[in-house]
Amino acid sequence: MNRDPIQLVEAGPDAAGELRALAESIWWDVYPEILSADQIRFMLDWMYAPATLRSDLAAGRVRYDFLRVDGQAAGFTSRHPGEAPGEQHLAKLYLAKRFHGRGLGSAALREVIRRAGLEGASFVTLRVNRRNLPALRCYLRNGFRIERDLLSDIGGGFVMDDHWMRLDLPGEPRSPRLAP
Ligand SMILES: CC(C)(COP(=O)(O)OP(=O)(O)OC[C@H]1O[C@@H](n2cnc3c(N)ncnc32)[C@H](O)[C@@H]1OP(=O)(O)O)[C@@H](O)C(=O)NCCC(=O)NCCS
Repeated sequence: MNRDPIQLVEAGPDAAGELRALAESIWWDVYPEILSADQIRFMLDWMYAPATLRSDLAAGRVRYDFLRVDGQAAGFTSRHPGEAPGEQHLAKLYLAKRFHGRGLGSAALREVIRRAGLEGASFVTLRVNRRNLPALRCYLRNGFRIERDLLSDIGGGFVMDDHWMRLDLPGEPRSPRLAP
């Protein structure tokens, strides 16, 4: 049987607790290499506040999908429409460390891109920490390019020092232009 190596399963309205637990475990496994412990705590409390997650899930503003490998909880993604027409913003792509280095992050990313295209997006954007080299490599190898750098003051004395990246999706085939 030919099965996808990684499955995306939409998170329901009660998923806030599971998402927060996965985020905590993945962040503490991976981010101490690039962020201070104080910044990790600050960002987890800010981005994964249970009330924020619950209201996002209830309003359907942000689409969360769990990642599953062989039925095991492996991480999650989230995305939402961006500010520009045709833009889909990939806000989160988190895979537990034990699944890294097998092409599974790329497989999940390609599936997110495919779904965004089916839903009518013409391009996908994301931001990634400039020092997060494994993630940067994953995005570059899947066709994203760095559009600009973005330094954001997030409060608490912390900044997000990111690349803003973009992938254009193939459009409708155009009919060949006739010579005048
Ligand atoms: C970003 C992330 C999802 C990438 O996951 P990943 O599965 O390791 O990435 P890829 O799919 O690109 O895997 C590629 C690696 O697997 C190796 N690999 C092994 N088998 C492979 C296969 N069959 N196909 C493709 N790559 C394979 C590649 O050589 C490559 O190694 P390299 O990066 O050292 O060159 C993961 O690092 C992650 O979740 N990090 C923590 C959270 C995070 O930072 N998210 C991004 C926030 S913006």
